[in-house]
Amino acid sequence: MSNDAMKKENEALTRVGQGTLMGNLMRQYWLPAMRSDELEAGGSPVRLLLLGEKLIAYRNPSGVVGVMDHQCPHRNASLFFGRNEEGGMRCVYHGWQFDTSGQCVDLPNIPDGEAFKAKIKATAYTAFEKHGVVWVFMGDQAKVPPTPKIEVMDAEDGEIELEFALRECNYLQCLEGDIDTSHLAFLHVGNVEPEQLASSDPMKYVVSNRRPELEVSDAPWGTTYCAFKTTEDGGKYLRFANFMFPFWSQAPQGEFETNLFSRAWVPMDDTHTMSITMTWRKRPPTFKPMKDGKELPGVAPLQLLPNSTDWLGRFRTVQNLANDFLIDREAQRSNRIFTGIENIGVQDQAMTDSMGEITDRSREHLSPSDIMIARTRRRLLRAARDLEGKGTPPPGVNDPFVYQLARSGELIVENADDWQAVYEEHLKDAVRISDAVAPQQ
Ligand code: FES
Ligand SMILES: [Fe+2]
Repeated sequence: MSNDAMKKENEALTRVGQGTLMGNLMRQYWLPAMRSDELEAGGSPVRLLLLGEKLIAYRNPSGVVGVMDHQCPHRNASLFFGRNEEGGMRCVYHGWQFDTSGQCVDLPNIPDGEAFKAKIKATAYTAFEKHGVVWVFMGDQAKVPPTPKIEVMDAEDGEIELEFALRECNYLQCLEGDIDTSHLAFLHVGNVEPEQLASSDPMKYVVSNRRPELEVSDAPWGTTYCAFKTTEDGGKYLRFANFMFPFWSQAPQGEFETNLFSRAWVPMDDTHTMSITMTWRKRPPTFKPMKDGKELPGVAPLQLLPNSTDWLGRFRTVQNLANDFLIDREAQRSNRIFTGIENIGVQDQAMTDSMGEITDRSREHLSPSDIMIARTRRRLLRAARDLEGKGTPPPGVNDPFVYQLARSGELIVENADDWQAVYEEHLKDAVRISDAVAPQQ
């Protein structure tokens, strides 16, 4: 592909605003947007940046969540300053008031306001809440799709671990970081040798051979990969991971049968992404970050700054691009921490943020280790173009059960000649959270 064509493709893949190719694709889906506990009934509105749109989110006094354009349709003053009243959000400039559907319900500053108000509707988006997350649908409000059926969402309230963190780059860089299997053996455990790990620790296969074999495939939910390592007795250690439309990753984070891990890379705008991780564990992860019987250095918990009311003020990490992620060069030189950077997620963040806000993919040199990334780009582009050209709904929108069959994790098996058959067989044995049954494919 010519450089120019690659630059064009990069633009198509990364821009998410209204009217863009990928922005149109993303607006077909329900988006996890914020934590439910960010909104208090009758409390302050929160500035919410989503797909490049400046919105406010609030919870009205009866507890219903409203998500709307932050600018009042009268003369564009920000409803961030609005009054969260019983009947709706009231603009403090001239008193116009809107319910959670965006309908103007009071127009008190002109004599015939009662008649005029029916004609005024602010841009507002439908929302629902599940597992402490507010989900928003930003597409055609007359065609709201069914809610997503990602398996982790079947858990009971309170059973899911939730983590939010802001990244300072385009969503695709973040997403690609999570489906890039070969970095694990360097970025995160480049300082670990197999003999330092417990004999039961499957991580020994990752560090004993840092060149995984990799196979990839399209899947009903997006794309999937299997990375292979041979075990000492000739068996196979497998790592499965998925990309799920439109911006989800499932990285291998423990035993295949007993862990569910799904992460949304929600574009706030073209150059900022909210990472929203949902984890459910029947059994703790099999990878215990130990080295020489001690906790592996570099796995300190994620630290966040207090939220501010700024558009980009939510869930900022203490370690960030501006402070070089607090890299400790001594720890790097001594190989105490391969990167010198604490926290596994921040190690990923340092790499993806450092590529630039929207990295120039025409400068890359993709290698066989990147076949999952290349396939995922093609899959995203194809779905977005099919939507634009033929009006084909992308995967998972009208058929949300496709997500139920997507799962990531590690497995040790005797034979993996047909890795997709191994996946399906172990999915049958896997611990399911609920009785929600996917239709037969
Ligand atoms: S700008 Fe909001 S009521 Fe006038
Ligand atoms: Fe990583």
